[in-house]
Amino acid sequence: MQHIEWTEELELGHPGIDAQHRRIVEILNSLHQAASAHRTGSAENALLDELVRLVDEHFRTEEAMMRAARFAGYETHREAHQILLQSVVDLRDSLFRQHENISLKTLNFLKRWLYDHMCHTDCDLKVIFDSPARRGHA
Ligand SMILES: [Fe+2]
Ligand SMILES: [Fe+2]
Repeated sequence: MQHIEWTEELELGHPGIDAQHRRIVEILNSLHQAASAHRTGSAENALLDELVRLVDEHFRTEEAMMRAARFAGYETHREAHQILLQSVVDLRDSLFRQHENISLKTLNFLKRWLYDHMCHTDCDLKVIFDSPARRGHA
């Protein structure tokens, strides 16, 4: 999986969620560039740290919105988040511990997974973005 272009397909229509998704895509693209060039160093480590922090914060945001809207698919979506976050943490920790280059294969796997989650699983959240409960809090 190469550079991820930000397209309308990725827009969910919620400014906060879309901004978080955009930043995650930017970091994934930067990591892809670094891996392609076999670059490893403090800049790449900082990117991986930021990715972990952002993904964690983003998943918490979505989960809070789902709970507030009493979203029926909450548990399934949350479980997908837990598995994804653990994969991001494992990638960061293995690279820090073993001082390996970022493997393109591993990174591609993670990119595909995050991309599919944003394109498909997160699309289900569109129903709660316009819910009366959310409008009431706006
Ligand atoms: Fe998301
Ligand atoms: Fe999600």
